[in-house]
This record gives sequence, structure tokens and C-alpha cells, in this order.
Amino acid sequence: MAILLEVRNLRTQFLTDDGLIKAVDDVSYHIDEKEIIGVVGESGCGKSVTQLSVMRLITPPGKITSGQIIFEGDDLMKYEANGPEMRSIRGAKIAMIFQEPMTSLNPVLTIGRQLTETLELHLKMGKSAANRRAAELLDMVGIPCADTRLGDYPHQFSGGMRQRAMIAMALSCNPRLVIADEPTTALDVTTQAQLLELMKALVEEFHSALVIVTHNLGVVARYAQRIYIMYAGRIVESGTCKDIFRSPRHPYTMGLLNCVPRIDDREGRELEAIKGLPPNLGRLPGQCAFLPRCEHAVDRCRVEPWPELQAVADGHHTRCFVNPPGMTG
Ligand SMILES: Nc1ncnc2c1ncn2[C@@H]1O[C@H](COP(=O)(O)OP(=O)(O)OP(=O)(O)O)[C@@H](O)[C@H]1O
Ligand SMILES: [Mg+2]
Repeated sequence: MAILLEVRNLRTQFLTDDGLIKAVDDVSYHIDEKEIIGVVGESGCGKSVTQLSVMRLITPPGKITSGQIIFEGDDLMKYEANGPEMRSIRGAKIAMIFQEPMTSLNPVLTIGRQLTETLELHLKMGKSAANRRAAELLDMVGIPCADTRLGDYPHQFSGGMRQRAMIAMALSCNPRLVIADEPTTALDVTTQAQLLELMKALVEEFHSALVIVTHNLGVVARYAQRIYIMYAGRIVESGTCKDIFRSPRHPYTMGLLNCVPRIDDREGRELEAIKGLPPNLGRLPGQCAFLPRCEHAVDRCRVEPWPELQAVADGHHTRCFVNPPGMTG
């Protein structure tokens, strides 16, 4: 399978009053054409900033300080963030479904206008063709009476419907890559599951690749082929879904797995939250940033710098000195 996007050694930082926040620190990952991957980690670990960097949507005080973002063989870093090349890639080739639909939908434009605007701009459609397509798209994401709902404003849609509209918008130009940044966290569990099913079905139909960003490992289990686990601005483990769920190697991944119920749970297994808090990305130690919370740490972890990602099996990588004795579940 051909590689669609390859991010190499990406670093994105924010210069704040609190100091330099290393939100994304030497992150490398890839996604193949038509693949679904998951990016998982606790709040504040750099998931959104990574994806916003790919879209070149980082604004001051943030800055991409190094790295390559190779999309369809082209390094996007050579383009101006707001230049014509990036503007035509954003939306048309790489589309993002944002964490907060209310902040990314324009409250004073109807849903229909927001859809037709994109279609007219990127696909050069005329007004009536764009209107027809907008209705088709709303119908496709499961909004009843799509024709009449086109005239509604975002506040007239429920939270779940707004997310559906966002999905329709993201897919409107048949992008090669869809990035769904925690699109379902504010919704109830049934709606969450329905939306993920819908997204999976649609990206298959549109032959797009999909990045699912979430803090919940359970969410990606059914959908992603491969998973990247992030902690403190870095990838700490990556592998196939099977690698991550059956033989996790990083203590942080194990902690995340202990927080989610599993279908093969033995009776009475207690779900445990990971103790302690995520670190302040402005004051990271040279050693492993998970050390203060790690139950498997050895002396080496306290004195040596955080190791690089190392292969433990074909396609399975971890950034850890120890080889902990497996899950506690
Ligand atoms: N505009 C900004 N200015 C300063 N710091 C920022 C800015 N945007 C993000 N950060 C910092 O970058 C780090 C990573 O943030 P990011 O939004 O990527 O986290 P996340 O993993 O997406 O979390 P969540 O699950 O809560 O969405 C955080 O420490 C955050 O405070
Ligand atoms: Mg986020």
C-alpha cells in the first residue's frame, strides 16, 4: 500500500509567558492510502497540535520549528501556511473535523451555504449543482429531510447533527485524508458509536484515509488498523491494533488499557485510572516524561535520557528501557 502522508521529526512549540511549550517533540508517523489510524493519548499530550501542524494551521505564539510533512510525495513545509498551495490542499485534499463543531461552523451562515461555499470554491461547481450536492451530502450523513435542513443555521442542529454536518463538509471535496480530531467526545455513547461507524463507512466509500484522534483507546479498537500512542508531545508506542491490545510494551499504553473495559475481561477486573497527572510540557525532564507515574521504572530510567523509539517486533515500536511483565488485567 502506498504511503499517503509521512510526518518526519515534527517539532511544534509555543512561546508563552510560562516558557517554551514543546507541544510536539520529534514526532514521526505515517498513514497509507485508505488506511485508518488512531492517535491516542491523554488531554494535553499534543494530539491536536500534531494534526493542526499537518494542516499548517499553527498560528503565533506557536511555530513548527522543524520536520517534514510529506503528503503525496510533496513536503508541505515548503509552502507558505496561508499561500495558495496550502489553501487548495486544506479542505480539498486534507480535511479536518474539529474537536468543537460549534467553533468551526460559522454561526451566521446556513449549513447549506457552508457546504456550497466549499463546493463552489474547490470543485468550481455552479450554484444549483452545489445545492444538489449539498443536499446529497447531508442525506448521506443521515440528516433527515436534507433538502429543507440546508436552510438551517448551526444552532438549529443538535450536537450530533452538527457533527454529521461537519463530516459532510469534510467529505464534500472527496479528500484523500480526513483527520477527525476527537469528533465525538461531547456526545452520548450511542451517538459516538453511530458517528464513528458512519465515518468508517464513508471513508471506505470515498477511498479516503482517516486519522481518528481520541483520548480513549477503546474508541479506536474497532476502527483503526494501526495506533500511535502519544505522551508529553512524543509517540511512545506504535503498532497494529493487535500489537497494542494484545502485547502492549509501554507502561503508559498498559495504563491506558487498564482504563478501558474489554470484551474478554475476566470477571471482577477493576478498571484503574493512571495515577498522577500528565506533565507540564514547558518543564519536561531529560528523562522519560512518564517516569513519575511509572510503576515499572528501573534505575536506568532515572539517569539516562528518554530513549528513542525502538522496534520490538516488525511494525511495533516503543520508547522504553524496560520490558514490563505484561498487563495487570
Ligand atoms: N495556542 C496555544 N498556546 C499555548 N500553548 C498551546 C496552544 N495550543 C496548544 N498548546 C499547548 O500544547 C499542548 C498540546 O495541546 P493539544 O491541544 O495538542 O493537546 P491534545 O492532546 O489535543 O489534548 P485534548 O485531548 O485535551 O484535546 C498543551 O500543553 C497545550 O497547552
Ligand atoms: Mg485536542
